[in-house]
Amino acid sequence: MLLKNKIALVTGSTNNIGLEIARAFAREGAKVIVHSRHEEAAKGVAEEIGGDYFAADVSRPEELEQLFDRIQQKHRRLDILVNTVAHSTKNDILETSLAEWNRIMAINLTGYFICIQHAARIMKDNGGGVIINISAGSGERGSPGTAVYSISKGAINALTRQAAVDLAPHKIRVNAVISGIVGTPLGSREMGNRKLEYDSIPLKRIGQPEEVAEAVLFLASEKAGYITNAILPVDGGRMNSMGSVSRG
Ligand SMILES: NC(=O)c1ccc[n+]([C@@H]2O[C@H](COP(=O)([O-])OP(=O)(O)OC[C@H]3O[C@@H](n4cnc5c(N)ncnc54)[C@H](OP(=O)(O)O)[C@@H]3O)[C@@H](O)[C@H]2O)c1
Repeated sequence: MLLKNKIALVTGSTNNIGLEIARAFAREGAKVIVHSRHEEAAKGVAEEIGGDYFAADVSRPEELEQLFDRIQQKHRRLDILVNTVAHSTKNDILETSLAEWNRIMAINLTGYFICIQHAARIMKDNGGGVIINISAGSGERGSPGTAVYSISKGAINALTRQAAVDLAPHKIRVNAVISGIVGTPLGSREMGNRKLEYDSIPLKRIGQPEEVAEAVLFLASEKAGYITNAILPVDGGRMNSMGSVSRG
């Protein structure tokens, strides 16, 4: 088992990519803390995989503080954090209101930052750990009409690199996975209008949440013990061919 007896928090793990990461981690022996805003949903997944659960809105710092306090008290340590929560946007730079900017940045970027801070403080007292951030190709290439989402993902890539440098002395590895378009509601939305983009994926298909989860599992495991500061695309080669038709 790749993660035997590890304690892992996967934010946003009641749906799609986060859910498959939680399932893969549990299959490999980890005790997973399942998380979303909705306690019943988190409890249901936790029961399925034999994990713990906690409900918290990542845009509310006080709720995240309670989440990590609970992890400290109940589990006494944290070995792995995976940040997955993101909300998409549909407006370009000119259409974006300040209210939308602040709302999306609080969820997509500040939420990741606060979770990293809390997790790293626990990990450094326990001899190390692993942090993985889920990102998107639009953070590297830009994407028409998804301004705040794309900018938040670019910032997550910068956050990943900075955290990798700052946390390495504490034996905490920090990496990101750039998910391609995967078969989730977010990934399949408007696929009819995205035919050009679909054709431009070199592997000529969207991915599955399980395929992203397997890459995250590898990065979380000791098999990736010398990997930090990496931003790994799991996207069928899409980022290499992303152009002005891309979204997401
Ligand atoms: N799907 C794609 O094609 C695609 C492509 C590129 C990148 N990605 C990235 O992959 C990641 C996961 O995407 P996904 O499509 O799997 O997401 P998803 O299906 O929308 O799932 C999001 C999860 O986060 C939880 N959540 C949402 N808002 C929250 C909040 N404010 N606080 C706490 N939990 C919250 C949701 O549960 P509740 O609603 O119950 O809180 C759910 O468990 C994201 O970072 C996304 O940007 C996805």
